[in-house]
Amino acid sequence: MGRMSIPMVGFVVLCLWTVVVEGEYMKYKDPKQPVGSRIKDLMKRMTLEEKIGQMTQIERKVATPDVVKQNFIGSVLSGGGSVPAPKATAEVWTNMVDGIQKGALSTRLGIPMIYGIDAVHGHNNVYGATIFPHNVGLGVTRDPDLVKRIGAATALEVRATGIPYAFAPCIAVCRNPRWGRCYESYSEDYRIVKSMTEIIPGLQGDLAAKFKGVPYVGGKTKVAACAKHFVGDGGTMNGIDEGNTVISSNDLFSIHMPAYYDAIRKGVSTVMVSYSSWNGRRMHANRDLVTGFLKNKLKFRGFVISDWQGVDRITDPPHANYSYSLQSGIMAGIDMIMVPENYREFIDTLTSLVKANIVPMTRIDDAVKRILRVKFVMGLFENPLSDPSLAKQIGSQEHRDLAREAVRKSLVLLKNGKTPSQPLLPLAKRAPKILVAGAHADNLGYQCGGWTIEWQGVVGNDLTVGTTILAAIKKTVDPSTQVVYQQNPDANFVKSNGFSYAIVVVGEVPYAEMFGDSANLTIPEPGPSTINNVCGAVKCVVVVVSGRPVVVQPHLAKMDALVAAWLPGTEGQGVTDALFGDYGFTGKLARTWFKSVDQLPMNFDDSHNKDPLFHFGFGLTTKPVKGNY
Ligand code: GLC
Repeated sequence: MGRMSIPMVGFVVLCLWTVVVEGEYMKYKDPKQPVGSRIKDLMKRMTLEEKIGQMTQIERKVATPDVVKQNFIGSVLSGGGSVPAPKATAEVWTNMVDGIQKGALSTRLGIPMIYGIDAVHGHNNVYGATIFPHNVGLGVTRDPDLVKRIGAATALEVRATGIPYAFAPCIAVCRNPRWGRCYESYSEDYRIVKSMTEIIPGLQGDLAAKFKGVPYVGGKTKVAACAKHFVGDGGTMNGIDEGNTVISSNDLFSIHMPAYYDAIRKGVSTVMVSYSSWNGRRMHANRDLVTGFLKNKLKFRGFVISDWQGVDRITDPPHANYSYSLQSGIMAGIDMIMVPENYREFIDTLTSLVKANIVPMTRIDDAVKRILRVKFVMGLFENPLSDPSLAKQIGSQEHRDLAREAVRKSLVLLKNGKTPSQPLLPLAKRAPKILVAGAHADNLGYQCGGWTIEWQGVVGNDLTVGTTILAAIKKTVDPSTQVVYQQNPDANFVKSNGFSYAIVVVGEVPYAEMFGDSANLTIPEPGPSTINNVCGAVKCVVVVVSGRPVVVQPHLAKMDALVAAWLPGTEGQGVTDALFGDYGFTGKLARTWFKSVDQLPMNFDDSHNKDPLFHFGFGLTTKPVKGNY
C-alpha cells in the first residue's frame, strides 16, 4: 500500500477515534457497519431512560441544551411559527439547532437528536424562504415531476437552517371543502394524491429500486419526510377538523389509504398519526391500523410519530387520564410522542407503565429501533450539525422561478368571456388605464395563506420576501399603461374613470387547522361588494385566492372571466404570466366546485355528484400569446 499523505493519516486516525472511544470499539459509531448491526449494538448499551428519551419530541421553546442532555431527548420541533427570532437568518437558525444538538451529543452515548419542522409549502416558518403554492394548487398541476422538484428545493432550504426533518407531505384526501385543512390536501381524488407522493423522493432522495419500502434519506441536502395524517384525516363528517370519519372499511382503504402504499414504497421515513377518529375510534389509539396494518401489513419500517398532543386528545376532554392515553397511544404503535412541552410528565408516566409491565419492553425496543434506523440511515450520527454553505439556498432565484412555474400551472381558468366569442383573457399589456381592485391584490400574507411565518398565517406584506399580484401586474404591463389600485372602489369611481379593464383579486383570509373550518364557504366582505362595484361597470377578470372552492355562483354572471389561484405563495408573477398570455392556462380542477354548500359533500366519484358549478377536471385553456400588447 502506498505511503499515506498526512491528511489521510489524520482522517484514518479520526475515523478510528470516533469508533474506539476510551479503548473500546463502539460498533454503532462505525459508519462502515450495516445499519442493523449498529442498531443492535447501540440498543444493548441503552438504559430504559435513554430509550424513552429517544421517544420524546419536545418543542424548541423548552429544549435548552441542558434539558436535551439531562433527559436524553431524541427529537425537537418547531411548532407552526416557532422561530428563534423574528426574521431570523439561516445563521440564527443553525446556531439554535446546532446548540440543541450539542446537548444531545454530549450525552453518554452521544445519540444525535432529530429536529423537525412543518415545511409544508416550502420552508414556510423561515423569513425569506421560497413559499410554494399550497397542495390544493399543486394537485391541479397533475405534474409529479414538478412536485418532486419542489421537494428537492424545499429540502435544500430546510437543510440551510440546519434542520433534517420535515413534517410533510400531507397526503390527506379532502372530501369536504368545509375542512379547515383542505388546502393541505392535493385533491379529492386519491389517484392525484398518490401521484403527488413524488414529493417524497424530492425531499428524501430517490430510493434505489432494490430497497423498496425502507426508510431512506440521501445525504446532507435531503431531509426525512413525514406522510400525514394517518389515516382518514380528510374524510371527517362535515369536514370538522380532528373529527370523526364515518365510512366503511372499503371506503377508508380505497380512498384514504392508497397514498400510504406509495409513500412507503418510496421510502418515507416517518408517518404521523391523525387526530381524527375512524367510526368513533381515535386514530392515536387504533392499534389495528397503526400496528396491524401500517407496520405489519404494509411493512412500514420507519417511525410513527404522534401529532401535537395527539395522545392527550385520545380522551375527551384532552388529558383527562394521561396514563391511560399514553398506554393507548404507545400500545397502538406510536413510536415518538410529540409531547411537546410536559416532557417530564411523559417520561415519568411511560417509565411507570414499563416498570408496571403494562407497556412491555418489546414495544419500547420496537419504537427505539425504528427511531435509530431513521437516524442511522440518514447519516445523522456522521453529520449531526448544520452545513453553513447551504445558507444561499434560502429563497434562491432558482427556487423562486420554480415556485413561479408551479403557480402558473396551478391556476384554473373557470370562465373566459360572457360569450365564448368574447374571451377577455389573455389581457392586453398595453392599455391606457387599468384598474386593480380587491384586498388580495396587494397582500402577500393573503396569497400565502396559513402555515406561513405564523401558524395561522399573516396579513400584510411585511411577513417575508415575495411579489404580490399587484406588483406582478405593474411589472408585466407596458410602461405606458397606467395601473390604478383601489381595494374596494365604489361603482361611480369605476364608471367615471374610463378603465380598459379591471383585475379584481378577492378571497379568503389566512387560516390553519380548526380555525379554517367553515360551514358557509363564502368569500368574506368586502370581496363580493368589490366584485359587484367593479364588474358592474367595466370588463373584469376575478382572481379568487382561497384554500378551496368557495361560493361564487351568485356573482358569476357579472364576471367576464374567473380564475382560481388557490394559495399561490410568494411568487405572484406566476399569476400574471397566465393573465397576460406569456403562458397559457393549463390547470384542471382537482376538486369539484359546488354551486351551493347545501350540495356538500360532493366529490367526483359520489353517486350523488349532480349539478356542480364546475365539475372535477374542468378548466379552460389558452395558448401563450407572444408580445401580447
Ligand atoms: C399540528 C398539525 C400537524 C403538524 C404538527 C406540528 O397540530 O396537525 O400537521 O405537523 O402539529 O406542528
